[in-house]
Amino acid sequence: MALVQFPKDFVWGAATAAYQIEGAHNEDGRGMSIWDTFSGTPGKVYNGDNGNIACDSYHRYEEDVELLKDLGVRAYRFSVAWPRIYPQGRGEINPKGLEFYHKFVDRLLANGIEPMCTLYHWDLPQALQDEGGWDNRATIDAYVDYAETMFRSFAGKIKKWITFNEPWCISILSNLLGEHAPGYRDFQLALNVGHHVLVAHGETVKRFRALGVEGEIGIAPNTEWFEPYSAKPEDAAACDRRNAYFNGWFIEPLFKGEYPAIASDWYKKAGFEPPVRNGDMETIRQPIDFLGINYYTGGVGRKGDDDPLGFEAVDVGFDKTDIGWNIYPQGLLNVLNWIRNEYGGIPIYITENGACYDDVKAEGGIRDAKRIDYIKKHLIQLNRAIESGVNVKGYMLWSLMDNFEWAWGYSKRFGLVHVDFRTLERTKKDSYYWYKKIAEVGWLEV
Ligand code: FCB
Repeated sequence: MALVQFPKDFVWGAATAAYQIEGAHNEDGRGMSIWDTFSGTPGKVYNGDNGNIACDSYHRYEEDVELLKDLGVRAYRFSVAWPRIYPQGRGEINPKGLEFYHKFVDRLLANGIEPMCTLYHWDLPQALQDEGGWDNRATIDAYVDYAETMFRSFAGKIKKWITFNEPWCISILSNLLGEHAPGYRDFQLALNVGHHVLVAHGETVKRFRALGVEGEIGIAPNTEWFEPYSAKPEDAAACDRRNAYFNGWFIEPLFKGEYPAIASDWYKKAGFEPPVRNGDMETIRQPIDFLGINYYTGGVGRKGDDDPLGFEAVDVGFDKTDIGWNIYPQGLLNVLNWIRNEYGGIPIYITENGACYDDVKAEGGIRDAKRIDYIKKHLIQLNRAIESGVNVKGYMLWSLMDNFEWAWGYSKRFGLVHVDFRTLERTKKDSYYWYKKIAEVGWLEV
């Protein structure tokens, strides 16, 4: 047996997002979001599922905080539903929305759990989508005002803020691949959306500093890592493009104030460019206090002819989780090394990492050994990164509990806690007890 030890002040946590757990979609003045619309559109979400009830955390938040407390985590990453605060996206504030999050955050604090608040985890108010959503620069102003409302209201309570969850998903997955709300398939639109989200991020950081808010602010891009299949330079170049399209496009501008040329040159050849206006790139490059990294998967790739990026993934036999994603723990280490090498020693939180498995219910519990194995393998790589000097401060496991997995509905489970979506009963899985021990002692056995 060997021990893998984490720094004493390492922050162990768990993560969720509003639309995936809250439910109460039409209560206390909440407005509609693009996810209500999308999940209400036939054929968009598996089985016609939606987040109307989800885990009902809006009503069961006390029980959820109890689960967190017993888990022993120091931090909880959750998101705020913008349409609860501004049902129309801007204008009139809904006091009941603020009240809910105050009750909830107070409860976390009373239990010694630090709130890490994501301001945008995909549930754009539908009223703003009706005006063009993130394609429309006016959405940037509405977002920054919403953020300011949150900063002022929660001053002294919430000290870690995340502007956006996964800009790649907000832009590419939702506007080019059509898999998430609002469900378009238009590359120029996706570039517009991605750019405006990054500008909104920068403007929000500026506002945060101007208001002198106590605390830290960052953003949580998702990452994947592709290694070249062979030593051929064209395979390496194809993977560089794939990594730039997925990772660099949303991270390089934060630190260098420019899009990665390897991707932007390629897009330009095909006639696409992000809609950059004077001053935008400076705005995006505001110093942030930490970088959140979401990581689940990656793989091996090479030059391909059919794909617009000139890339193709090669199946070299990775094991997969039950959502079909390659299990590639070393990709996490590669991502972290790349960030350190390119952008320096910015403090990093792993804001999401976790595994989807159809859990096996057995006598006396839920046996999810595969989930434990996945997390263990990723923690080992994370530890290697820390040992080699990458400045990782904490790990927010996805997810505290099974929830509405976007286009997959309730068919995919990521939780440490099992949720029965008929009775809403919560049951701790084996992985919950396993992670509880790590949160307590700060090391794991391998
Ligand atoms: C990420 C999302 C999160 C969850 C996990 C599995 O892309 O941020 O909400 O769905 O994937």
